[in-house]
Order: sequence, then structure tokens, then C-alpha cells
Amino acid sequence: RVPEPCAVVLFGSTGDLAHRKLVPALYNLARGGNLPSECAIVGFARRDWSDDDLRAEYEKTLEKEGGPDFKEIWPQFSTRLVFSPGNFDDPESYRKLKEKLEELDRTHGTRGNRIFYLAVSPEFFETIVEQLGKAGLIYPRHQESPWSRVVIEKPFGHDLGSAKELSRDLSKVLDESQVYRIDHYLGKETVQNILAFRFGNSIFEPIWNRRHVGAVQITVAEEVGMSGSRGAYYDTAGAIRDMVQNHMMQLLCLVAMEPPTDLSADVVRSEKVKVLQALPRWKPEDVYRNVVRAQYTAGSIEGKEVPGYLQEKGVKPDSRTAPYVAMRLELNNWRWAGVPFFLRTGKRLPKRATEIAIQFRRPPTELFEPEVDGHTGMNQLVLRIQPNEGASLAFEAKIPGSRRRLQEVRMDFRYGTAFAVPPPEAYERLLLDVMLGDPTLFTRTDEVDSAWRFITTILDAWELPDAPPPVNYVAGSWGPLEADKLLEADGSKWRRL
Ligand code: BG6
Repeated sequence: RVPEPCAVVLFGSTGDLAHRKLVPALYNLARGGNLPSECAIVGFARRDWSDDDLRAEYEKTLEKEGGPDFKEIWPQFSTRLVFSPGNFDDPESYRKLKEKLEELDRTHGTRGNRIFYLAVSPEFFETIVEQLGKAGLIYPRHQESPWSRVVIEKPFGHDLGSAKELSRDLSKVLDESQVYRIDHYLGKETVQNILAFRFGNSIFEPIWNRRHVGAVQITVAEEVGMSGSRGAYYDTAGAIRDMVQNHMMQLLCLVAMEPPTDLSADVVRSEKVKVLQALPRWKPEDVYRNVVRAQYTAGSIEGKEVPGYLQEKGVKPDSRTAPYVAMRLELNNWRWAGVPFFLRTGKRLPKRATEIAIQFRRPPTELFEPEVDGHTGMNQLVLRIQPNEGASLAFEAKIPGSRRRLQEVRMDFRYGTAFAVPPPEAYERLLLDVMLGDPTLFTRTDEVDSAWRFITTILDAWELPDAPPPVNYVAGSWGPLEADKLLEADGSKWRRL
């Protein structure tokens, strides 16, 4: 699928996201023949740059990872790059941008189609969208051709109230169908495969419910701490806003949702919203019982000493922000009532690993002797989101010999071995979908709001004077003991990754 001609305007084109993700993704799309030949990429930023400055800058970015054919691809790709200097709040800058875009329609054949990618701090969202509207850069709401689309990156607000305010501001200028809210987890091939796994096969769905599933564990573990200048932003967010509100809620939705009637954007997103509506309505004491927040203290990762969270640059020395969160929740619906979902995510854990484990109930009677060490007796289906992308099914087999002893064995599927091509980067897929006008992998306003409703209950409880403070774990360990206790009442343990 090659999209229609268009211009992609990158607000924040000199920033980190543009360099690390967006420009490489656009380059790789071009390299794979997935960019329309009539496509221009416009950098918009507060610098006094020329087109050549932008080209030189991106050449440096791409040179290292542009692949063996960089020298062939780059000359053509670079002709698509143009720069439009400007300030986010200056109407004149938008007038010039409009002129530039009209010129590109003539020189590059972009035919009036425009994507505005706001790779900027969220405090600028409202201003930029308002200015785009005033400059006549956003087409009327239901106009199909030419089209204008706006892409925004999280955070979408910092609680339910501010998320709603942001939606209100955007809706003054844009129709919901013109807004693309990125959650890059949805762009990951393995995340999309959750739906294929569940609904493209008939053997899993009949057992995907409270009768057969005893528990679900979702882990998003990271080794990284506060790299570069990230501490200051992160300290306003913590794992609950940075990871749980968006990425983990999306994983939960995809695992727990009902089968959609088709895969169109609104049908899929409506099913996800129903999962979010089934999240528990907690009181503060439920939050304290079911959610653990923690900060890492100094420790070591792969033999390298690392500082504690409170010593990281940009983090307030008395901060209560938690880079680790674990929780136990139940969904209040027919499919899942009574099944515990255990979620955990944290920085400075021993390794980077994201996985979803569906743990099935034990057989009703014990006919065999279990192998004692670490034996759970549960069949487990593990979807490995990253790394070692794939899935494995753990089941019991008899250990050879005269005794009736069981041991867990596995059937394993690996993307790398099953498919010859490596999965595309999340941003490539997402940018392509924006160009194609397919919003399936982007979050809709009601999804964002429903996730925030649940998260805001937790945030509010943590603000109360009698809220327990964050507990500690040593950097490089698997989190605090309190997180293990969350599972004890269910006779369960976190999986060893
Ligand atoms: C981002 C968070 O959204 O996702 C980061 O802001 C986190 O804190 C990152 O490190 C993880 O993404 P990935 O793709 O590396 O799992």
C-alpha cells in the first residue's frame, strides 16, 4: 500500500524524537518504496536554518544506520527535505509555512495533503493547533480531499481533567478523524499480533476466559534509568503516567477485549474502550492494597554501578514519583470477573523484557507428582512482545522413567526464525498508517479518557496525607518485596524472566 502524495511537517524537527525515530522511519519507508514519490518532509523549528542545514543535520543522523545502500538512497531522499523556520506562536511563521506548502504542491506534487506531526512538548499542542487553524492549514472537518491530519505524542494530559481539556482544545479546530494520537506500542508488530493470535486462530479463544484462565501477568521491564536530560520530565510523570496509562492499558485491552466484528478502526477501538470501562472503581484503601509504587536505590546493572532514582539528574531529592509500579486488578465483566491481572513495569530492572503471560488453571485433580523446584502446574501461554519476539506455550510432560513425575516443557515460536524479514520499526508502521488515513492503531479520545479515569483514581489516592510513600528496590533487582506480596493471596508468583 503506497499512500497518496503529501507533505509531512515535523514540528520539533531538531528535537530528539525527530532524530531518533521519525526521520529514520521516513527514510526507511522511502528505502522500502513505501513513500509516495510525491512526498516532501518539512522541518519546522525555532532555528535560522536553510534547507541545506536540515539536510546536513539529517544526513549525520541517518549515515550511521542508513544501511549499505545509504549512498544510493540519500541523494533522492534529501531532495524531499525542506526547512521552514518559525516560532510556534507566531502567525507570520504559519503564513510562511502555508506559502512553502503551496510551493511544494507545485514543485513536489504534494497535492494539498498535509500531515502535521507535533513532536514537541505538550504545552505547545494547543498553540500550534490553534495557529494551524487560523492560518487556514486545517481543512474543514469532513473534507475528504485534500486532507489534513495532526499527529500528537503523549502525554495526553496529566490526569482526567487535563486530558479532557486537551481534547476540548483540539476539537475547536479538528475533527476526531483528523487527530492521530500515537502510542508507539500499538505500532509494534508483536502487539498487533495479539489480535491475530487470538482471533486468527480458533484454538485459543474458547479457553480465553475466567473458566480456564487463572491469572494474567503483564510485565514491561526496562534496564534504563533516567538517561540524558530525561529526569526532569520523568519526575512529573512516573511509571504510572509514562507507561501504565498508555502502553500497559493498551496491552491489557488487546488481551482482554471481546472479538471485534471486523478490524475497522472504530470497531476495534470501541471494543478496547469496553475493557477500560470494566476497570475497577477503587477507593483509596483499595489503591493502597492493590497498587505498589517504588523507587530504585543505587545498585548495579550488568556489573555497572548506577545511582538511585533520587540521585538522578533532574529528579527532586524528596520526590515521591515512582519509576516502578505493580498492581493487581480485576475486570468487572462476564469474561474476566474474578481473574486477577497482575501488571508491573519499572526502570532499572535486571533486563529489558515485555511479555504477557496467560496462566491457565491447574487440572482439577492431581494425578501426577509435580517436580518440586519452581513448579507451578499451570499451563502458560507467553506472548513475548520484546525482545526475542515470539510466543511460547508451556505445558507438562512426563519425565522419562518409572515414576509419574511431571516437568514443564515448551513449544516455541520465534518471529526471527518463522519470518525471513525483521519486523518494521513501530514508527514506520504508524507513520505509514497516518499517510494512509488508517487510525486503527491510534488512540481515540474516549480510550484516553477511560484510561485516565482509572489512573486518576490512583493518582488522587497517592496525594492523600495518609497515602503510603513509595517503597524501595535496589537497582538491578526485580522490584520490591511488596510487589511479591500482591500475588501471595492468589497463591501466585511473578514470573522469572
Ligand atoms: C516511552 C516511555 O513511551 O516508552 C519511556 O516514555 C520508555 O520511558 C519507552 O522507556 C519504552 O519503549 P520501548 O519501545 O523501548 O519499549
